[in-house]
Amino acid sequence: MKRLFKILLYALGVVVLFVGIFALYIQMKGIPHYPVEMTEAIKTMQVPRDSAHVAEGKRISSMLCRECHYSSETQKLTGSYRSDIPKEFGDVYSLNITHDPTHGIGNWTDGELYYFLRTGIRPQTGAYVPPFMPKFPRMSDEDLKSVIAWLRSSDPELAADSHEFPPNKSNFLVKLLANVAFKPLPLPAQPIIEPDSSNPAALGKYVANGMIGCFACHSADLKTLNDLDPEKTPGYYGGGTAMLDMDGVTEVVTANITMDKETGIGNWTEQQFVEAVRFGKKPGGGLLHYPMTPHSALSDSEVKAVYAYLKTVPVIQHKIERYEEKGMTSKSQ
Ligand code: HEC
Ligand code: HEC
Repeated sequence: MKRLFKILLYALGVVVLFVGIFALYIQMKGIPHYPVEMTEAIKTMQVPRDSAHVAEGKRISSMLCRECHYSSETQKLTGSYRSDIPKEFGDVYSLNITHDPTHGIGNWTDGELYYFLRTGIRPQTGAYVPPFMPKFPRMSDEDLKSVIAWLRSSDPELAADSHEFPPNKSNFLVKLLANVAFKPLPLPAQPIIEPDSSNPAALGKYVANGMIGCFACHSADLKTLNDLDPEKTPGYYGGGTAMLDMDGVTEVVTANITMDKETGIGNWTEQQFVEAVRFGKKPGGGLLHYPMTPHSALSDSEVKAVYAYLKTVPVIQHKIERYEEKGMTSKSQ
């Protein structure tokens, strides 16, 4: 017995030692770096800066970038503390994306911005950017160029400003996940062209999956997202992802927006859907809660197209425990 105990203790010691060495290795290695594979076309990219592209980029970024990068202190896109990120990932700041050449992105080329936004690899160093900064692998080439045109524009919120948060220091958990779970995304193999309005379901699929990324929040789990082939994401549009409110504590679970009549939105009218998505209005009164922000910059026809697309998505029966406003009695709902 004593001998067996000794052997077990020894084996445990070896395991602990290996885990320790692995942890030390991850701690020292840090965030992984990848080869920066910019094509000639990307290196020399010059996006058109005409007012139509800038306006479209401003519209898209008002839904996709401003939320995280705007600072109410500077009233510019100088970055902010991300209070809605679970505490175990440490303190995360979005960074300065104004024209300042040192503190912002004034020195980045159009191609560098394109590469960064598509892949999540820093073009200057090859460092991988953790998922707190989203990537845009399915956005159309035209829409992404519009976003870059806007980043270059004279929008006062982008005027050079030296206000800066220091680069994020990734903690052990982020380093570990960045080495074993998170991966950068490949550049698209083919040009991505936005479908036109003659096919509403196709346009809606693009708006939902390619431009806004509704599926990313509205499927079962952030950890099982299929970025390159959204339809293969488990629980596709069946909701259930627990997200955090701005206080970093309160859970708000995403809704099932498949057309299931009991647990999804199968009984909603198209107009109710438009009101919810554009203005955050619930059909029975009241407002949808953060992080379901109003997408008022989407047009009615874009949101109707999303509705047409959701009608083609396989129905999932999945009852969600929804967020309820504290202090509200069931009467007042
Ligand atoms: C969910 C919050 C979030 C959203 C939405 C978001 N970002 Fe970011 N962004 C971040 C964070 C966090 C970082 C810092 C990443 C890091 O630690 O390297 C960042 C970094 C960046 C950087 C690198 C800045 C630098 O100085 O190194 C650029 C450029 C950028 N974002 C542009 C954008 C654009 C353009 C959009 C919209 C298309 C956008 N971001 C949307 C959170 C966000
Ligand atoms: C950042 C995550 C996120 C994104 C992106 C997002 N949603 Fe939501 N959505 C939520 C959350 C969380 C709720 C639940 C809010 C609540 O309970 O008040 C919700 C609720 C809804 C509802 C209400 C459903 C109901 O039963 O009350 C609809 C409809 C909806 N979202 C559609 C969309 C569409 C369409 C898009 C893309 C254009 C989208 N959402 C993008 C997180 C998100």
